[in-house]
Amino acid sequence: MTTILSTWKEPGEVAIRAAWKKRDTGGGLVDALEAGLAAAELDPNLIMIGLGSLPNAEGDLELDASIMRGSDYLCGAVCAVRNIVPVISLARKVMEDTPHVMIAGEQARRYAIEQGFEPRQTLTGEVIARWEEWRESPERIKVYEHTHSDTVTMLGLSEGKMVAASSTSGLPFKQPGRVGDSPIFGAGIYADDEVGSAGATGNGEELWKAVASFRAVEFMRQGMSPQVACERVIEHMIRRQPRAQELPCVVFAMSRDGEIGAATTKDQFDLWICQDGEFEMKTFVA
Ligand code: GLY
Repeated sequence: MTTILSTWKEPGEVAIRAAWKKRDTGGGLVDALEAGLAAAELDPNLIMIGLGSLPNAEGDLELDASIMRGSDYLCGAVCAVRNIVPVISLARKVMEDTPHVMIAGEQARRYAIEQGFEPRQTLTGEVIARWEEWRESPERIKVYEHTHSDTVTMLGLSEGKMVAASSTSGLPFKQPGRVGDSPIFGAGIYADDEVGSAGATGNGEELWKAVASFRAVEFMRQGMSPQVACERVIEHMIRRQPRAQELPCVVFAMSRDGEIGAATTKDQFDLWICQDGEFEMKTFVA
């Protein structure tokens, strides 16, 4: 049995279907999650991650991605990368072809080019127009409030082996160089085959402060179900981090035996689940 999870309704569906297609045609879990996130990144119509997602305050798109294997904690991430997609494939290269955990910014872009990635224009006319509208808006902050599904995070499980991966364009119109939780192990993703895996999406600053994914996995290690573990993380955030309810902060988790849970500080959260080619979307409400 293979179980794959993917966040948010629209980009999550693109990602999970591509991931299952890869898995169903013989790909491993790492291949499947990479294929899923790459498909969502390369779809210019999804204004969420990768190509055609919302840029930073200066109109430049900076992308983050990460991937982690639960068997041995092998992991790789990139952050603040410009003009390269899919960045999840670059994160995989860091994981498999370097002794490092993360490569950042311009050096990550140069590493990508050395590895054969073609630099390209990652902005579309649509997102340039949205950035111009934001720049002219007297109430800029409101735009932030309406956009939170700019991250796709995936978990995969097969025969007790787990992989976690994430790709994001970060907060829309963020300060240049800002990096959130998604490429940070323990914050945006975490996987440990002894226990389970967890991922996050939403306000990257608060999720990082909470070390949300690691905390959920450690709660499962103490014996909590994934649902209770996620609820405990969210309760802790609400109690200790007042800003965690300004924008949604979501944590979701899967135990090594395939049980699933999720919780959010605010609003609602859609999670796609694929079990051996059977697809279902579940909604979790705060
Ligand atoms: N969760 C994505 C970010 O805040 O960058």
